[in-house]
Amino acid sequence: MLTGKTIIFGVTGSIAAYKTAEIIRRLKDLNANVRVVMTVNAVNFIGETTLRTLSQNPVYINMFHDSGSLEGPLPHITISDTADLFLIAPATANIIGKVASGIADDLLSTTLLSAGNKPVLMAPAMNERMYKSHIYKHNEKKLQIAGVKFINPEYGKLACGKEGEGRLASVDSIVSRVVDTLIGGNLFDTYDLKGKRVIVTAGGTREYIDPVRFIGNPATGKMGFALARGALAREADVTLISGKTFLVPPKNVKYIPVETADQMGKAVLDSFKHADILVMAAAIGDFKPKKTEKNKIKRKGMLKIDMKPTDDILEKLGKIKNGRITVGFAAETNNLIKNAKTKLKKKNLDLIVVNDITQPDAGFESETNIVKIIDRANDVEELPKWTKEEVAHRIWDRIVELINKNKGV
Ligand SMILES: Cc1cc2nc3c(=O)[nH]c(=O)nc-3n(C[C@H](O)[C@H](O)[C@H](O)COP(=O)(O)O)c2cc1C
Repeated sequence: MLTGKTIIFGVTGSIAAYKTAEIIRRLKDLNANVRVVMTVNAVNFIGETTLRTLSQNPVYINMFHDSGSLEGPLPHITISDTADLFLIAPATANIIGKVASGIADDLLSTTLLSAGNKPVLMAPAMNERMYKSHIYKHNEKKLQIAGVKFINPEYGKLACGKEGEGRLASVDSIVSRVVDTLIGGNLFDTYDLKGKRVIVTAGGTREYIDPVRFIGNPATGKMGFALARGALAREADVTLISGKTFLVPPKNVKYIPVETADQMGKAVLDSFKHADILVMAAAIGDFKPKKTEKNKIKRKGMLKIDMKPTDDILEKLGKIKNGRITVGFAAETNNLIKNAKTKLKKKNLDLIVVNDITQPDAGFESETNIVKIIDRANDVEELPKWTKEEVAHRIWDRIVELINKNKGV
């Protein structure tokens, strides 16, 4: 796919530098020529040997000795001359600030200043406070005006242990942007969801007992958001309906925030009329209080709350799906396969994705998931522990297989 394309891959001193190994491997799989330029500080985070071995090229670090001797007297110009694209991943606040100010005090910043009109992609990674600082935002804006494109970081667990915005974008989205910039395509060379109208639900719902208390679940929206990003990368027209979440919705989706199961149900029903595919990754409450108190309930002895079932959206839609593809999720604690198969049948689903939420690194709040995909023939596909991004793409692969089998969606 990227045969004949040379990517100058800048690596800077961020904790996310370990992820560059995977990005380089993926770019090499696409036949790109990858030439790594590291900052001196980046060497504290990932070894030069690793990047040299993976890129199958010399790694350039210093302006005046090793790289100079490798690339002649003006390494920054010689390296820059060979580039079809510059990718800086991870990009520290420091390199972004330096390039925005025209500072060229090491090999990478000097090479970038020599980029001319060639495309430059920067994938920032830093602590949320740094990412949200006025100084950083000012520098980013300056570079955007100069034509640099940014691959926005994600919300997620940061090096400091807290959750926030600033985590390096996923390997998938970085590689997709490189492919898109270089050859105007994307990783999924057929754009296999192009023109399909997709609804994805994400997050959990809240059922209010009184104005300040609710019954909810720990869903964060990560799986649904990964599905929405996956569908976007494959050029679908995406509606993302999500319960409360701290995640930032991807650009280019129609985003509908909701809170309760009733609101989720209404939003899904309204959107379903115009959809081809529905993937329900949201954890929707099965019960709600019979009555929501208008005023905050005062503390006094025992409190009994009468509950009633919420509407079963998927079951409702199963009866009117009329050729549309519907995919459900089942978060189970026991009898996984049996329960999931019953749900698939009852709700007239095409696929059900089931996960055992008692396992570590699976389900709610986790970055990874361990799922099984069951189809109408009752075949069970077991996936290994994958990131939610990877699981999302496998689910879209399966949906595309169904589209091709059914045709006429
Ligand atoms: C453990 C550790 C992790 C760091 N992670 C980041 C980071 O993710 N993003 C960032 O902008 N700076 C980070 N820094 C600070 C940079 O390493 C520092 O600003 C350095 O000067 C960047 O140099 P460079 O841009 O030339 O590579 C980190 C520092 C330490 C000690």
